[in-house]
Amino acid sequence: MLSSVGILQTVHFKQLKYMNKAYYNQLLENNKGWVASRLALDPDFFNKLAKGQQPPLLWIGCADSRVPANEIIGAKPGEVFVHRNIANMVLHTDMNMLSVLDYAVNVLKVKHIIVCGHYGCGGVRAAMGSGSYGIVDNWIRHIKDVYRFHQKELDIIEDDTQKFNRFVELNVVEQVYDLAKTSIVQNAWNVKQELFIHGWVYGVDSGIIKDLGVNIDSNELLDDVYQLDI
Ligand code: CO
Repeated sequence: MLSSVGILQTVHFKQLKYMNKAYYNQLLENNKGWVASRLALDPDFFNKLAKGQQPPLLWIGCADSRVPANEIIGAKPGEVFVHRNIANMVLHTDMNMLSVLDYAVNVLKVKHIIVCGHYGCGGVRAAMGSGSYGIVDNWIRHIKDVYRFHQKELDIIEDDTQKFNRFVELNVVEQVYDLAKTSIVQNAWNVKQELFIHGWVYGVDSGIIKDLGVNIDSNELLDDVYQLDI
C-alpha cells in the first residue's frame, strides 16, 4: 500500500479559489517584460550573470518594502550581496546574518559592508514604545538595548520626530560596531584583507541617503573588551 508521506501534491493554479489571480499573473507578466527589456539592451546580459558573482559590496538593510537595496544606489544585478531584516540588525546569534556575512567576507571577498537604516523605520518606532506585536517583540528588544545605551542623548530630545530620527541613526551606528565585533570581520582585518564598514540612513520621503560618517577598518576602534586576539 502506498503511503502519502513524502509525496508532494501539486495543486493546480485554477484550484486556488480565493487568490487574486490578476495580481499574481501580473507579477509573472512583469518578469517577462523585464527579461525582454534587459535582452534588448544586452543580448548577453543573463549569460554573463550565469557565470558567477563577485559583488564588491554587502548590504545589510531593513526589510521595509520602500528601501530596495539595488535600486536606490543604482546597482545592477551582480553588484550587491544583500541581507535584510527588520530594522537592519546585526545580531550575533542570528545564523542567517552570520552565514551571509561569512560568505560575503570569506568567499566573495567583498570590500565594503554598508548597514543602511531608514527614517520612519517601523521596527525602531516600535522599540521607542511599549506596544506588543507578537514574536517580533523579541527581535525589537535588541533595538531597545540601543535606546538604553544612548538614553542620555535621546531623552533630552523633546521633539518626537527628531528623537525618532536620531534613534534610527544611533541604531545604525551600533550595528556597524556590532559588525566590527564579529570574529568574521576581525579575522579579515587580522589577515590584512581590505574591508570597510559604513553606516547610512535612507530618507523614505526624499530618496536621499545620509552617510553617518561611521567608517571602520580596524578593530582598534573598538573598546578593548571587544578586540579579539586573533
Ligand atoms: Co525599517
